[in-house]
This record gives sequence, structure tokens and C-alpha cells, in this order.
Amino acid sequence: MSSSTFKVVTIAGATGPLGFHIADAFLNDRSYKIKILRQKPESENKNASLLASKGAEIVYVDYNDRNDLVKALKETDVIVCAIGGAEFLAPQRALLVAAKEVGVKRFIPSEFGSDIKAITGELHPLHKVKVEFLQELEKSGMEYTIIVTGLFQEYFGTLGFDHKNKKAKLYADGNTKIANTSLPDIGKYTVESLKLPEARNGTIRVSAPVLTLNELLQKYEEITGSKWEVSYDLTVRERYKSNTDPVPTMLDDLSAYIAITLDIKDLHNDKFSFTPRPADEAISALVKS
Ligand SMILES: NC(=O)c1ccc[n+]([C@@H]2O[C@H](COP(=O)([O-])OP(=O)(O)OC[C@H]3O[C@@H](n4cnc5c(N)ncnc54)[C@H](OP(=O)(O)O)[C@@H]3O)[C@@H](O)[C@H]2O)c1
Repeated sequence: MSSSTFKVVTIAGATGPLGFHIADAFLNDRSYKIKILRQKPESENKNASLLASKGAEIVYVDYNDRNDLVKALKETDVIVCAIGGAEFLAPQRALLVAAKEVGVKRFIPSEFGSDIKAITGELHPLHKVKVEFLQELEKSGMEYTIIVTGLFQEYFGTLGFDHKNKKAKLYADGNTKIANTSLPDIGKYTVESLKLPEARNGTIRVSAPVLTLNELLQKYEEITGSKWEVSYDLTVRERYKSNTDPVPTMLDDLSAYIAITLDIKDLHNDKFSFTPRPADEAISALVKS
């Protein structure tokens, strides 16, 4: 792996579950100056305090104020955006505009999930806006890396696994493949991506060993030491769209969509220096929690 020429990495959204682990991995790596952008007004946050205690500089910005953002991004070589939530697009767009103005060298957008550019079926609205942004990013001339990680292992529950009640309500066929990565490993992959030639204007796809829904269920059963009650609901998406009884919730529809978009191909795992944590360890941790 070659060395990186970048010196200053600025992470937006570092107080969230994903951003925290990305910032933490950069701080543990000790090769970069780490700045963390937080939205104004100033507020207390446990993750921000922890990252600051490890050496991150916390900078508060108004994402609606271009001058403020430009000032905050001065000297930044790499932006990692880990902003989430329904309103993530506007601040991410503002970051891209300011990054161009400042001369930031690389932009890593808030992706870290499905390989959305490779999805052939109808896109969920959340992915639609993400794809639109990726097109804007590619057109902007800014160097970028899209990082595709599959499902966060910590979020296996969204697939319908309920370890507390030893029940699974699955929204896709049991043979559906699920790429998955732990949050700490996503942090490490993001850090190492800066040294990979493939990451320059490219998509990096990584995952712990990919398992089917049936294989995940089997692991849950082994780890909890009991047979689970399993049901399948394979018409959630159609019922949601046509408002047919029983009408699923928006979250059930999202879970059903996610389950069928995690079969990620052409992984770059062999380009990285470490082996990702397997799903078993994540499931054990979830069951103990
Ligand atoms: N693959 C998966 O399984 C999976 C699961 C969940 C999420 N994701 C993806 O991971 C990314 C991050 O998600 P997350 O859940 O970790 O993020 P999040 O917790 O929703 O947000 C992270 C941080 O972003 C900042 N933020 C939130 N809304 C903002 C806004 N409107 N303007 C400016 N800053 C804002 C906040 O930090 P401050 O207040 O400190 O600024 C917040 O703590 C997203 O792209 C999401 O789609 C993937």
C-alpha cells in the first residue's frame, strides 16, 4: 500500500454512529490532522468530547453559510461526510460547493451501505437522492471515493432479527445475500482507502464474509442456543406501494428494500491490510447487549 499525500482530514457528522467510528479510526492511525465539523449552535455531545480528548479539533459551522464553511474547510485535504438523517443532502451539497472553492483534494460522500449505482430495480427515494448527489460529485471534477460496506453489522436487527424474542420476520428470500461490515472496520477501511490507487475517483466495496439471511438466522440460533420462530413477509414493498392491507409501515418498507440491495459484488477486501470482524462476533455482541 502506498503512502498518502493528504495531511488534513475533515469529518462532517462525526458525532453519529458511523462518523464517530470513522473519526476514531483516523485518530488511532495518527497520520493526519483531524477536524470535525459540527452544526451550529454549539452543544454538548459525548462522542465529540471523546474525539476531542483524542486530539480532534472541533469546528462549529452553519452549513447554510458558504463563507463560514469555506473558512472551516481551510487547509482540508480530504472531506469525509458521514451526515445522516432525512436532511443530509443539503449540508452535503454545501460541503461539496465549499470544498471546490477551498481546493479540497478528495471528497468521500455519506454512502457506506448498498452499491447504489449498481442497483438495477427501482430505487428507494433515499437512494434516489444519494445517486443524484453522486452524479453531481462525479461532474464536479472533485476527486472522490465512494465506500460501499453493506449493512452495518450493528444493525442486523433491521433485517427482521429480534434476538430478545428469538423471532425472525424476514422480508426477503432466505437465500438473499447480505454484505455486512462492523462500524469500527468501516472506520479502518475509510482510513486505508486514502492510500489505495483504486480509490481515486472510484468505488471501494468491502464486507465481512457475505452471508445469506438463512445463514444469519442459523448463526443467531447457534449463538442463542435455541430454535427461532421464523416468518417471511415477501410482499411488503408491493403492499406499501399499492396501500394494500395490511399496509406496512414506512420503516418495514425500507427494511424490505435494504434486504434486497445488499448483495455486493467485486469486493476490494484483498487490497486492505486487515481481516474484517465476522458476523458471528457482531451477533454475539448484539445478543449480549
Ligand atoms: N449501511 C448501513 O447499515 C447504514 C445504516 C445507517 C446509516 N447508514 C448511512 O451512514 C451515513 C451516516 O448515518 P448515521 O446514522 O451515522 O448519521 P446520523 O447519526 O443521522 O447523523 C450523523 C451526524 O450528522 C450531523 N447532522 C445530522 N443532520 C444534519 C443536518 N441536517 N445538517 C448538518 N449536520 C447534520 C449530526 O452531527 P452534529 O450535530 O454533531 O453536527 C449527527 O450527529 C448515512 O449516509 C446513512 O445513510 C448506513
